[in-house]
Amino acid sequence: MTDLREFDVVLFGATGYTGELALGELVRRGAGLRLALAGRDAKKLEAVRTRLAAGVPEASKLPILVADAHDRPALDGVARRARVVCTTVGPYALHGEDLAAACAEAGTHLCDLTGEVTFMRRSIDRNDATAARTGARIVHACGFDSIPSDLGVLLADEAMRVRAGVPCDEATLEVLSLRGGASGGTLASMFTLVEEARRDPAIRKLLLDPYALNPEGERQGPDGPDPMGVESTQDAYLAPFVMGAVNSRVVRRSNALLGYRYGRDFRYREVSRFPKTPKGFLAATSLAAGLGAFVASVATPGLGRLVRAALPKPGAGPSLEERERGRFRLRVVGVSRAAHVERRVVVRVEGDRDPGYALTSVMLAESAVCLASDPLTSPGGVLTPATAMGMSLVERLRRAGLVLTAD
Ligand SMILES: NC(=O)c1ccc[n+]([C@@H]2O[C@H](COP(=O)([O-])OP(=O)(O)OC[C@H]3O[C@@H](n4cnc5c(N)ncnc54)[C@H](OP(=O)(O)O)[C@@H]3O)[C@@H](O)[C@H]2O)c1
Repeated sequence: MTDLREFDVVLFGATGYTGELALGELVRRGAGLRLALAGRDAKKLEAVRTRLAAGVPEASKLPILVADAHDRPALDGVARRARVVCTTVGPYALHGEDLAAACAEAGTHLCDLTGEVTFMRRSIDRNDATAARTGARIVHACGFDSIPSDLGVLLADEAMRVRAGVPCDEATLEVLSLRGGASGGTLASMFTLVEEARRDPAIRKLLLDPYALNPEGERQGPDGPDPMGVESTQDAYLAPFVMGAVNSRVVRRSNALLGYRYGRDFRYREVSRFPKTPKGFLAATSLAAGLGAFVASVATPGLGRLVRAALPKPGAGPSLEERERGRFRLRVVGVSRAAHVERRVVVRVEGDRDPGYALTSVMLAESAVCLASDPLTSPGGVLTPATAMGMSLVERLRRAGLVLTAD
């Protein structure tokens, strides 16, 4: 990786709902960061720059790069001019593949917001060896999917090692509360995935594979299918967490890329936790049933069109007031049973604005600056947030106001 690149970070997708938020975060991190905005429509990009400059006057000087996500020579040009390309152009399965390949070949780091397992698998297969050779860190899932999970488990394992000298044998991410909206772009990505799965049995098989993102030849381990129904424990009702099927694959890839730091028998799952009360039971069963019904409805051609028509369109998302009212409270419970002694650590991962957009844009911006500026030791390859940036990113997110703490 050379330092002679013209830009530290290029934000690709600046005209989108999340892209403009992420660009705002990058501009506010400002001083000394050589930043440019990119997209396919010069006029829309100029309008974004003008809006930003109303709050931060220096933004008026930001260079604009024009490239379509399907114009490979133009993407090669963007990749060669930047140390890091940070992209919010999605659905990634439709628009992300050429850019990831261009960055891998140019030795340019990339971070994005994909939560699409199929796209990540294709990127691993196509780009991992190239990126390992060029030194590019290609880091998918740098938003609410899957940074809290991936860094939460890293911290739980670290705390267990410091306190007891052993790794975690298992970890569970529990969603304690979550308040936030959905953008049209996020829904479009979900619909694309459901559509792909409906058409192609190989994709359905991949989505059901708990180790779908592990290196080839290492796609096995002790974890089985994702939890679907409601489970009753001594003090709680547990329902599925909507993003668990993505985050768990990322965490398992981190374990593999870290040389099985959490152990070859490490088990991981994600759940939504509700109190052991009648109201808690009702909430857990409604969540489990609602999730199943939603997936079934969007996968049913006629009904899917109706459901989609009623939801936000690409470019739209939660208002500023809704983003400010949002919040999330998660905890990762790590367990070790080494030498037949049960030990527990609890890591809190919390934030006080909308997790999917306000805080996702903070996570993405911090990932981009971390990749551009921090003295990272990870090799090139298709990595995960924990394996590419690890504790450097944890420290950055803490300074940005997120809670990532082992109690
Ligand atoms: N992981 C997470 O936690 C998380 C959170 C938020 C969002 N996301 C993901 O982030 C992505 C963006 O979401 P969003 O709500 O910001 O979507 P959006 O508002 O629809 O924005 C999409 C962006 O992609 C651009 N684009 C589309 N086709 C393009 C092409 N052919 N060439 C160049 N640019 C193109 C659009 O440009 P135009 O303006 O020119 O149309 C726009 O800038 C989605 O995949 C979503 O799932 C993930």
